[in-house]
Amino acid sequence: MNFSIKILFISVLFLFSCEDFFYGEEDLCGVPGGDNKCLDECGVPNGTGISAGECDCNGNILGCDGECGSGQEYDICGVCNGLEINILNCQCDNPIEVQDCLGECGGSAIIDDCGVCNGNNVSCTGCMILGSDNYSSSHTIPDNENCFVSYNSTIQPILDNNCVVCHGSSGGLNLSSYDLLMIGGDNGVGVTPGNSQQSILIEKLMPNPSFGDQMDYLTESMINKISLWIDFGALDN
Ligand code: HEC
Repeated sequence: MNFSIKILFISVLFLFSCEDFFYGEEDLCGVPGGDNKCLDECGVPNGTGISAGECDCNGNILGCDGECGSGQEYDICGVCNGLEINILNCQCDNPIEVQDCLGECGGSAIIDDCGVCNGNNVSCTGCMILGSDNYSSSHTIPDNENCFVSYNSTIQPILDNNCVVCHGSSGGLNLSSYDLLMIGGDNGVGVTPGNSQQSILIEKLMPNPSFGDQMDYLTESMINKISLWIDFGALDN
C-alpha cells in the first residue's frame, strides 16, 4: 500500500467512526442531527398531542372559569362553580330570572300573607294579634276581625281565679258572670266595648287608678287578654 492510499483509508475510517462528530447526535426521534420535528406539542416523539377534550398534556380538562385544570364546573343552574342553591332560577332560560310561585319565569305572583300563592290575603284562618285566642304566627290578616278572645273560656276563668273572692256576692262590682260584669260597680259600667283605654275595669288593674287601689292580682299577659277582649267588642262569646 503506498502512502497516499494509506492516508485515504485512515481518512475513511476516521470519517465513519466519527459520524456523530460530523452529523451531530441523534435527536429524540432517533434522527442523527435531527431537530426533534417529530415531537408533538407535549414533547412525545411521534405523539398525537393533546387529546380531544383535554386542555393540556397532563390530561386536565378546561374548567368553566376558562382555566385549564381548575376543576370548576357548571352547577345545575348553569352557574360556573355555583352552589346549586336556586333551583327556581335554573328552570328559567335566563339565569337572572326567578320562577314565581306559579312556576312562571320572571312572573310576579307571590305568596300572600296567608301563605297562598297569588292569594288576596283574605283566606287566612288565624290572626297575628298576640294574646288573641286564635293567634297564629304563620297566618296574618290585615285587620283584627277574625281575631277573638273568648269570654267564657278565657276571661271568666281569670276573674274566677283572681277576683271573685272579693267581687262575688257582697254588693258592688260582681265579676262572677258576663251579665253582672257588664252592669258594673259603684263607679258605673266598668267595660266600654271596643275601648279598653276607656274602661274602668282596665284602669283598676293598672298602677295609680283614678280612685281607690290598683287591683294588683293579674299578670301582664292576663291584663292584655282582658284588654283585647274589650277591644274586640267585649262579646259574650
Ligand atoms: C282582696 C279583695 C279584692 C280582690 C281580690 C279584687 N278586688 Fe277589686 N275591689 C276591691 C275593693 C275593696 C274595691 C273597692 C275600692 C277600690 O275601688 O279600690 C274594689 C274595686 C274594684 C273596681 C272598681 C269598681 C267600681 O266601679 O267602683 C274594679 C273595676 C275592680 N275592683 C276590679 C277587680 C278585678 C278585675 C279583680 C281581679 C283581678 C279584683 N278587682 C280583685 C277588692 C278586691
